[in-house]
Amino acid sequence: MSDILVHTEAGVTTLTFNRVDKKNSITSSMYAELADALDAARDDAAVRCVLIQGDATIFSAGNDIGDFLNKPPSNQESPVFRFLRGIAAFPKPVVAAVCGPAVGIGTTLLFHCDLVYAGDNAAFSMPFVNLGLCPEAASSLLVPQMFGYHRAAEALLLGEPFMAEAALEVGLVNRVLPPTECNAYAQQQARKLAAKPLSALIETKRLLKKTQSAAVVERMDEEGASFGRMLREPAAREAFTAFMEKRRPDFSKV
Ligand code: COA
Repeated sequence: MSDILVHTEAGVTTLTFNRVDKKNSITSSMYAELADALDAARDDAAVRCVLIQGDATIFSAGNDIGDFLNKPPSNQESPVFRFLRGIAAFPKPVVAAVCGPAVGIGTTLLFHCDLVYAGDNAAFSMPFVNLGLCPEAASSLLVPQMFGYHRAAEALLLGEPFMAEAALEVGLVNRVLPPTECNAYAQQQARKLAAKPLSALIETKRLLKKTQSAAVVERMDEEGASFGRMLREPAAREAFTAFMEKRRPDFSKV
């Protein structure tokens, strides 16, 4: 079975991370599947909303670290960047249901969703610095806008997890639910959206995003260039190797 499940029903395309044994970490082929599914949902007039979910225990552990080590994205056409550009520019509403850890891109993709529902076990983190990296997905722009500078600096410089209630307080999450109810509630909300007129959904989302859409693209490109370079540098190589070897990284020489 695929690591990304794609199911369309009642006007909602549901994308489910399905690699639970590896904590739904995302490989380059999964990014390609996600990007293709978003393109198809954008172009299908019968689809009015997309829902992204994991299961009740895990949303996503972020990028597959073995992939980062062995085949880091080489240019802006790499699947991860295709996916990020696709979700950032997606014209129809996107809903997310997040339970358990949401690491790295597991959190930053949420800044491109319109509604986010979280299980009370959700743990968000953006540990880019701890991996010798910098923010991606325009998070260096969008996190301070949403959280305020100091809370953004704490989230992005220290990279420690914050739980669902804290995410609710800063506005990243719309509602916190028991994990076993989260996906069903998000599906219900997505279907509510899908029952509305598509042209009104699209125009309203476009206007909501208009102020910053050009800035998001520009920041994503700038972050992407730095991120791509830093992936190949010693600090990140040490962090990834340490993760694979199940030991603490040693940054004393980098
Ligand atoms: N890439 C590749 N494999 C990953 C992964 C990732 N990002 N995250 C988890 N896995 C794998 C582990 O290597 C382990 O594989 P194994 O069973 O073959 O040893 C399996 O998934 C289970 O992970 P484990 O760490 O034992 O689960 P946990 O419940 O103790 O912790 C996390 C869950 C998500 C907190 C932890 O796995 C983690 O921190 N992952 C890395 C997150 C990260 O840094 N992502 C990159 C962001 S840019």
